[in-house]
Amino acid sequence: MLPGEWAERVNTVRVIGTGVMGRGIAQICAAAGITVQLADARHEAVESAVAEIGRMYHKLAGKGRMSAEQAEAATGRLVPLSDPLDPADCDLVVEAVREDLDTKRELFAGLERALPQRTVFATNTSSLQVTSIATALQDPSRLAGLHFFNPVPLMRLVEVIPGARTAADLPDALTELVRRLGHTPVRATDTPGFLVNHAGRGLITEALQILAEDLALPEDVDRIARDVLGLRMGPFELMDLTALDVTHPAMESIFSGYYGDPRLRPSPITRSRLEAGLLGRKTGEGFYRYEDGVKQERPEPAAPEPTGRPVWSDDAALLDALAEVGSPVERGEEPSSAAIVLLTPHGHSAASAALSARLPAQQVCGVDPLSNATRCTLTVHPATDRDMARAAWAALAATGRAVTIVRDGPGMIAQRLLASIVNTSCFIAEQRLATPEDIDTAVRLALGYPSGPLEWGQQVGPRRVLTILRSLHSATGDPRYRPSRWLVERADLGLPLNETGTAVADVL
Ligand SMILES: NC(=O)c1ccc[n+]([C@@H]2O[C@H](COP(=O)([O-])OP(=O)(O)OC[C@H]3O[C@@H](n4cnc5c(N)ncnc54)[C@H](O)[C@@H]3O)[C@@H](O)[C@H]2O)c1
Repeated sequence: MLPGEWAERVNTVRVIGTGVMGRGIAQICAAAGITVQLADARHEAVESAVAEIGRMYHKLAGKGRMSAEQAEAATGRLVPLSDPLDPADCDLVVEAVREDLDTKRELFAGLERALPQRTVFATNTSSLQVTSIATALQDPSRLAGLHFFNPVPLMRLVEVIPGARTAADLPDALTELVRRLGHTPVRATDTPGFLVNHAGRGLITEALQILAEDLALPEDVDRIARDVLGLRMGPFELMDLTALDVTHPAMESIFSGYYGDPRLRPSPITRSRLEAGLLGRKTGEGFYRYEDGVKQERPEPAAPEPTGRPVWSDDAALLDALAEVGSPVERGEEPSSAAIVLLTPHGHSAASAALSARLPAQQVCGVDPLSNATRCTLTVHPATDRDMARAAWAALAATGRAVTIVRDGPGMIAQRLLASIVNTSCFIAEQRLATPEDIDTAVRLALGYPSGPLEWGQQVGPRRVLTILRSLHSATGDPRYRPSRWLVERADLGLPLNETGTAVADVL
């Protein structure tokens, strides 16, 4: 049978494990006209799932997203089962029980005995390998990963993951079924973190590295991530939302799954915070404190009054913006001894840029060249004169931007986060763990970035991203900053980051 035909003919799906994920999966399946058998080790979990899904349909009908008749019909398609191994016929089983290899293996071994050969098996595991789960089956070809995201009805992405022995036509069949459910399928490989959770390490591990280097406070990094990079949520807010009891083990499992690749290195910071119970929103304290569920954030300090000191910069556009609001600027070859010197290096620290250009270090501050009209990052190094730094802060604030002051260092903050996001996805593309198109689609939909990471790297410029990484690599000696071959080749050859180009298979 063709994959599309199979997907169209799916009439009954069994969802086992009716917790957070199982409920969402059952909700979208029944809404798409499929009969859904619901089963769980705890019968009360099934009862509450049926009631909750019914309420969700009712709410959607109230908002006009479905008709009252559709809501009633979908509710009628929910069939509670008292035994997950009930021999009643079904086309597909989606397993969403707790994340434990033995539990999942035992369940599938029982299902294989209970259900006919034609029933397809799918697991919603987020961190176990599909291939490991399939070893419980006499016939491992009938199982694949179908990785939904939380909350399922709103997160429209699903990773379809073939295991090492999955039947060749099964991923296509499941891909068509995901489309029938109104979600967007992407193909991922059965590798640690699959696609999205692997790609997401770029932001999180780099934010923790910045914190470990004491370059900036969590709220400063979050503000830069939101205002400059355009992320919906900064990395520390995100960790507080997902909670460290989920994030930290996920980081450890992806890192060990890749046998300690430094670009995926977790942080001792999250391990100790996890042990201390500072998990995030759900425990009332994480990187932020929460009162009645509301994040407590210190207000940003008010900028001082402008001093009238002139500004000299290597960035003409920055001087234009300052001149426009009446700040005195110097446009000569060299700054006068009274001038604030604002340097905007890519990859390098302002201090090292000052040394290379033989500029007086005490007059120099850095401005992240990725700053924008909303927010700019000002960096200070140990030799910066304090009054000069305050004058720089005042002058930048007078242009109407919010100013975040951080310690000077190679790559500053926005450049480092962006370069890490782009490079991580370039590694994914390089290893052919997903197509460039799927990488961009998956990350945009599941992580809410303003662009897919490869498109984003393309917009910023592959050469620029490469410069940032090479500077970080040489300044720190840390192999986590080694640029991926995907990035180096495309930057050197002038090819787009988000296209594969000619592959060996195209030639043969
Ligand atoms: N929560 C997420 O954000 C998320 C996202 C993607 C994937 N996942 C994966 O989905 C699966 C379920 O996660 P969840 O967050 O819905 O968990 P959950 O704790 O909310 O629900 C798990 C359910 O499984 C039931 N269960 C446990 N053992 C069982 C068994 N042997 N047979 C039948 N039912 C059993 C429990 O009673 C519970 O109702 C896990 O594999 C998880 O890794 C979770």
